Amino acid sequence: MLPIQIKNLLDRDGWTLRDATARHRGRRLEFFFTSRPTRAVTAALRRIQRADRNRFQTIGVVIAPTTAAMQRLRSCANADKFPRALFASLEELRAVAAGTIPVKSDKRGGITSFKAEILENTPVGGAQISHYRLAFKAPSLQNMQPPQFIMMDTKPARVPFGVRPVPRGQLRGAIDLTPQPLLKRPFGICRDFHPHFPIDYVKRLRLPPTLAVALYPVLPDHFDMLYKVLPHGVGTPLIAKLKRGQTVNMLGPLGRPFDVRRLRAEGVEEVHIIGGGVGMAPLILLVESLRYYGFRVKAFLGIATLQSLRYRDELAATFGEQPRDAYIYIDDLLAAGVPPEDVYVSCDSGKPARIGRGIPPANLFAGFVTDLYRRETHRSTGKTCAFTCGPNRMMELVVEITAQAGIPLRVLLEKRMGCGMGVCFSCVCKVRLADGADDYARVCTDGPLFDAKDILWKNDDSKQPSATCTCAPRS
Ligand SMILES: Cc1cc2nc3c(=O)[nH]c(=O)nc-3n(C[C@H](O)[C@H](O)[C@H](O)COP(=O)(O)OP(=O)(O)OC[C@H]3O[C@@H](n4cnc5c(N)ncnc54)[C@H](O)[C@@H]3O)c2cc1C
Ligand code: FES
Repeated sequence: MLPIQIKNLLDRDGWTLRDATARHRGRRLEFFFTSRPTRAVTAALRRIQRADRNRFQTIGVVIAPTTAAMQRLRSCANADKFPRALFASLEELRAVAAGTIPVKSDKRGGITSFKAEILENTPVGGAQISHYRLAFKAPSLQNMQPPQFIMMDTKPARVPFGVRPVPRGQLRGAIDLTPQPLLKRPFGICRDFHPHFPIDYVKRLRLPPTLAVALYPVLPDHFDMLYKVLPHGVGTPLIAKLKRGQTVNMLGPLGRPFDVRRLRAEGVEEVHIIGGGVGMAPLILLVESLRYYGFRVKAFLGIATLQSLRYRDELAATFGEQPRDAYIYIDDLLAAGVPPEDVYVSCDSGKPARIGRGIPPANLFAGFVTDLYRRETHRSTGKTCAFTCGPNRMMELVVEITAQAGIPLRVLLEKRMGCGMGVCFSCVCKVRLADGADDYARVCTDGPLFDAKDILWKNDDSKQPSATCTCAPRS
């Protein structure tokens, strides 16, 4: 028998509940109560998965008595015991029924040092490759939340010590005398993948909005990051040489998590995402989370050329919705459930050619993404907030535009980092505290996400922008 609280929650969203099944316009949620994996539950979930064939019309929901028990159940080690199920806890469902949204604290959790296995390192951009998409398997990173990041070595983990004989005449090639970066490099996570869930599951899911804040998928076990190879960089050209099957030492999750459910508590309905070039990469994971909880997301993407987003056809099948014709960011946004009419693309080099996928031609623009965004700000449908990441000048303009439109803005900062854990102070940016005094914040531990109004965008000491990435234009 389901507790009355669940019935009340479903009522609010117009779903009807009978026995252990909730129904709404052809969609069904089937509830199972358990605190541990059992054969009966696994068999029932397999039946649902087989019959539904990833249409997400019917979903099994496993309800554990406590939140701690639910977290144990949704570990990816249990993925085959609860195939394609969502999880909830009675504790949280009761809290939601009483009007509380379960928002996780923004305190950092445990940081783990782990080995990630490279699955793909795919060049992007047709003939002019400057970006790569790195897919890696790392079940230890499962507590990662947007917009946290990882720090990674730029070379494969060494094979355990041992004396390897060098063949006669090959001594020269056996010793690598090129400069090696000692420090790990920071990167945001672009996508995470949950066992048994297809890449575009968020687009297919249509959860009852009130209940959704207390429903969770199994934890992810592999991830994608998108990185730009810096022309004068030491580390990124080495990362571009990583091969499938190699392992790399990583550290994470780093930085403060941001639970997007707090926006629900703030009454936000629509979220604007403004990404400049590779600055869009870490915002995609945030978009996925926003869409999961049913927020309307409008995405504004600024790029140099449309071609720079293109995958080589034969390699695209893993990521793109349309394997023969895949674009990074655009396919990711659509797979994360952003409707095509809410995807806007601007190219510095001229209006992009037709993209297809239902994106209206009126959403394509020649020029800077900030000009495109300025044009669209007044078309919000409800209480709106915005997130941005990209080059300095772009973010400063977005600060101006959102301030004029009265839209609260959060910025994702990138600074050069030494340790990623708050020790070396190489990543500081100038901020204004609540009492009006100026201070320095560490992007790695206080960020990387900041309220735009707390950032001092001009560093009075050096007359340089203090807060943002200083690397080459991030297209
Ligand atoms: C939290 C965070 C998330 C990031 N996410 C991504 C991502 O998703 N995709 C991506 O392509 N890049 C991302 N970056 C930037 C990335 O870390 C750098 O491009 C990379 O470390 C450069 O390594 P390198 O060894 O090739 O360059 P280096 O040889 O270390 O430096 C080359 C040049 O770039 C400058 N530089 C290097 N790193 C930075 C930086 N972080 N900020 C400002 N200037 C820098 C240096 O001053 C130098 O002039 C992120 C950075 C941070 C802090
Ligand atoms: S990177 Fe060392 S303190 Fe931030």
